[in-house]
Amino acid sequence: MRIKRLNLKKSDQIFRKAIKVIPYGSQTYSKGVKAFSDGASPKFLAKGKGCEVWDVDGNKYIDYVMGNQPLILGYADQDVNRAVTKQLNLGSTFSVSNKLELDVSELMIKHIPGAEAVRFGKNGADANSIAVRMSRAITKRDHIAFCGYHGWHDWFIGTTDLNAGIPKFNEQLAHSFSYNDIASLNKIFKRYKDKIACVIMEPITVAGPKSSPNGSTKWKDFNSKKNFLTEVKDLCKKNGALLVFDEVVTGFRYDMGGAQKMYEITPDLSCFAKAMSNGIPVSAITGKKKYMKYLESTFFSFTYGGDCVGLAAAKACINKLEKKNVIDHLYKVGRKLKNGMNNIIEMHGLSELLECSGYPCRTVMTIKNYKKYSKPLIVKTLIQQELMKRGVLWSQYHSMSYSHKNSHIETSLNAFEDSFKILKKIVMNNKNIENYLHGKPCETVFTRVADFQSVATSQKLKIR
Ligand SMILES: Cc1ncc(COP(=O)(O)O)c(C=O)c1O
Repeated sequence: MRIKRLNLKKSDQIFRKAIKVIPYGSQTYSKGVKAFSDGASPKFLAKGKGCEVWDVDGNKYIDYVMGNQPLILGYADQDVNRAVTKQLNLGSTFSVSNKLELDVSELMIKHIPGAEAVRFGKNGADANSIAVRMSRAITKRDHIAFCGYHGWHDWFIGTTDLNAGIPKFNEQLAHSFSYNDIASLNKIFKRYKDKIACVIMEPITVAGPKSSPNGSTKWKDFNSKKNFLTEVKDLCKKNGALLVFDEVVTGFRYDMGGAQKMYEITPDLSCFAKAMSNGIPVSAITGKKKYMKYLESTFFSFTYGGDCVGLAAAKACINKLEKKNVIDHLYKVGRKLKNGMNNIIEMHGLSELLECSGYPCRTVMTIKNYKKYSKPLIVKTLIQQELMKRGVLWSQYHSMSYSHKNSHIETSLNAFEDSFKILKKIVMNNKNIENYLHGKPCETVFTRVADFQSVATSQKLKIR
């Protein structure tokens, strides 16, 4: 049966108006036309409940993006909504502090091994920015090493090709290393001897640290004490740099205590956001008291710091995650999706092109180079288009939530199978995928500027 193209009339109508007054047409790059094929994906969602969303044209989808991952319980969760509504009626932002700040701090200290003290921000980038500023203040050094994505602030985006408007010195001070490649970090420490303030990194990217199982099993099966993360920690210690875990994605998703709890590696500072509050904005910097006390003099202060709406959501969300054993559920349904998808991929002879990888609570569709199909974004666009038509909202990763139930996974696997069959037919007949796209191809948001450039220029400058 041929599935009809989506009716996206209203989405496109609104977009035509929006693009005149909203540069790029979206507030977040990965929610706009770079990530969702223009012409084949909805541009505006109207409502969500659980793991399901409805676009402005009335099309319904099972969502795997979940608002860029924070919606760990699901849209419009009744417990979070109740807590937020109650707080709204009491007032949201006050003239002095509110006890919720203490309540959520205590909850975080209870769950996160490295949290001896806590301060709150609003975005993941806030928490990462202050972690870097504090590390610089503590060590009196300016350079940093990083691994992963950390947010929109200058020191990170300065190292990408979206660096317009960012003074050059930022990219000269920030040096990227590769996950599971300790030599790449070692090189940075050698080149910038006694200059690195901190190593800030995502403790898990898609795979976990080398020497762990391949991510298909839950962390309890992991028993190796020596791995990439312990090596990073040793290098930091040896070189007098702080270790900062960016747990914006891993926190309260991979484990209640984040990756640091899974791997029993306590960083000096760690940053949380996304899953801690089910989509109501709040973030946190946590860490050892001896370092966190620097927040008395390192400036981290803004009008909406301690905003009670985010904190009420965080309190309700963290309590529910614990009470309902939500993370076990994420692994259970995530494993069903991952195994199911990989079985379908294998059954249709697409293993050389596709693989569903990563920990079951958050998997990613890896698209590999295969014969003439060397443009992953074109493959992504086709799969996305076919899934959207079949009621699955998809952007190459699967952010599992408490609301994804077995029935959603089964429905989604049928949609994946149909979409993979279409891809297989194109590939088997050696056809161009581009000819089968209804809309524009997806694009990358940015690419990383090679680190060697920053090395070359920093040598000409006097950088502490
Ligand atoms: C690992 C990681 N760190 C930091 C951030 C930035 O968080 P935010 O977009 O809330 O500023 C993100 C956002 O996707 C992220 O994935």
